[in-house]
Amino acid sequence: MGYVISIVNMKGGVGKTTLTVNLAASLVKDHGMRVLVVDLDMQVNATLSLMPPLQFAKLKQDNRTLKQLINQVFKPDNDSQSSIKQIIIANICQITGFDLLPGDIELYNDFVLAALIYAHSSKNQLEFEKSWNNLEDYLLKSIIQPVIQDYDFILLDFPPGDYLLTRSGIIASDFYLIPAKPEPLSVVGMGILEGNINQLKDKKRCTISLIGIIFSSLGHSTNMALHVKNRVTAEFGEEQIFNTEIPMNVAIAKAVDESKPVMLTEPRSTGAKAFTELAKEFLQKLSQMTNRLPNPP
Ligand SMILES: Nc1ncnc2c1ncn2[C@@H]1O[C@H](COP(=O)(O)OP(=O)(O)OP(=O)(O)O)[C@@H](O)[C@H]1O
Ligand SMILES: [Mg+2]
Repeated sequence: MGYVISIVNMKGGVGKTTLTVNLAASLVKDHGMRVLVVDLDMQVNATLSLMPPLQFAKLKQDNRTLKQLINQVFKPDNDSQSSIKQIIIANICQITGFDLLPGDIELYNDFVLAALIYAHSSKNQLEFEKSWNNLEDYLLKSIIQPVIQDYDFILLDFPPGDYLLTRSGIIASDFYLIPAKPEPLSVVGMGILEGNINQLKDKKRCTISLIGIIFSSLGHSTNMALHVKNRVTAEFGEEQIFNTEIPMNVAIAKAVDESKPVMLTEPRSTGAKAFTELAKEFLQKLSQMTNRLPNPP
């Protein structure tokens, strides 16, 4: 069985998608792992970081995205059913073992879902909450369950903020990584995330464990960056902070424009090298936590 890993911070723009796509690529290419990236963000940034916009447009037109799988959970008797295996794009960027479940720009939003559930809950608050929580507990688990055994890692890329799909992904995950920038608002996002996860744990709705916090930074440490990192270290413990930091490197941003991980576009860049180091540290940290790692094929 593969590990499901959430890459999450309530704050936007902290490098969640960049980390998801490039860590996944390194795990496959450098370590022979089988990895599935699941794009749960309506911005479809992970999808567009791995395939050209025209390819995505065609998939969307053919209903071959996450939206189809979510719709099927709500309307299981729908005629045109697709399995997750039919929707996954295998060997993305021509990397064998690297698969993508494409996201969609039109997923149900929480207001529409709330209205749907409310309409079916006899307008009763307790019943509504129970149905909502059941949906969170069930939705993502049920979608990925048929392929969990096909991968060593399933990496989930989330939108910023606290939405049903994010909570459902966290509930379905074994571990999580927090990408962060060494700036105060990024740390606020971590605090909100920890509060949300602790609430789910208190209610015995999830068992997720933190692998660690990964900083992206400018390389030179300003006083503020140091101050923020010290605060985070004091709060989470030194062992929860990755030694590897991701430098701000233009090659990383340019790779998105080519819809590829940076290790394919500019393998010698400082950005590509950092993700190679990061994947090693990720596997080390994980093996310390689990003492059992998936065996590469
Ligand atoms: N190390 C880096 N060097 C250069 N550019 C980067 C780096 N990390 C991220 N970026 C760029 O910064 C922007 C935000 O990064 P990214 O999309 O990964 O953040 P995010 O947390 O996923 O954002 P959102 O919350 O909107 O999903 C992107 O344009 C990305 O290409
Ligand atoms: Mg993103």
